Amino acid sequence: MSLTIEAVTGDELKDVLPDLARLRITVFRDWPYLYDGTEEYEREYLAKFIAAQGAVCVVARDGKKVVGASTASPMAETDEEFILPFKAAGYDVSKVFYCGESVLIGGYRGQGAGHRFFDEREAHARRLGGYEISTFCRVVRPDDHPLKPASYRPLDGFWKKRGYAPADGLVAQYPWKDIGESDETDKPLQFWTHRL
Ligand SMILES: CC(C)(COP(=O)(O)OP(=O)(O)OC[C@H]1O[C@@H](n2cnc3c(N)ncnc32)[C@H](O)[C@@H]1OP(=O)(O)O)[C@@H](O)C(=O)NCCC(=O)NCCS
Repeated sequence: MSLTIEAVTGDELKDVLPDLARLRITVFRDWPYLYDGTEEYEREYLAKFIAAQGAVCVVARDGKKVVGASTASPMAETDEEFILPFKAAGYDVSKVFYCGESVLIGGYRGQGAGHRFFDEREAHARRLGGYEISTFCRVVRPDDHPLKPASYRPLDGFWKKRGYAPADGLVAQYPWKDIGESDETDKPLQFWTHRL
């Protein structure tokens, strides 16, 4: 099973939005995201992504079927909730490049797509120019959370290998609805950073 990887930008981004929404709803249902996704939430979230100048979506395909996707855009073009902790910590937000989600269907993992997602997004940031820091965030959940699967293997080792490390104090609060909850609640998101 071999995957093809393509970086999509500009007007073509709108063509991948339905696949991106489908993948986010499917993959982020799992631990640690536990996202009870809806098309309405996705429409709003992805409308902001597609409007961002300099956005990229790296798409993984098996034949014609999109089985994975990974997004990024300049931090200044993202939500205020993400920008706030960087401003509060004194960062020049215009020099920060934000790597958003990476979502790959389970059966396709372990073939290097996760590395390619980072390679392509960081290359895109370098092409745009002017960025000094690449960052992403991951949700913080208590270790004794009842929905944490015993077999879960964290991605920390992978991210460290990519040169990223958790940045002290850079934590955003971002809302979504968890599985089993009736309303959206804010989740703490820890940023990891890496010099470009
Ligand atoms: C993140 C994700 C896209 C990576 O995809 P992938 O195809 O497994 O990535 P790669 O094959 O390039 O492997 C990346 C590293 O993760 C490791 N890895 C593979 N499967 C893993 C697993 N189940 N759990 C933890 N790490 C794993 C690999 O060993 C590899 O490390 P290496 O370079 O030392 O070999 C995929 O795991 C995924 O969709 N996860 C669920 C969503 C998520 O957590 N996204 C990240 C935050 S948005």
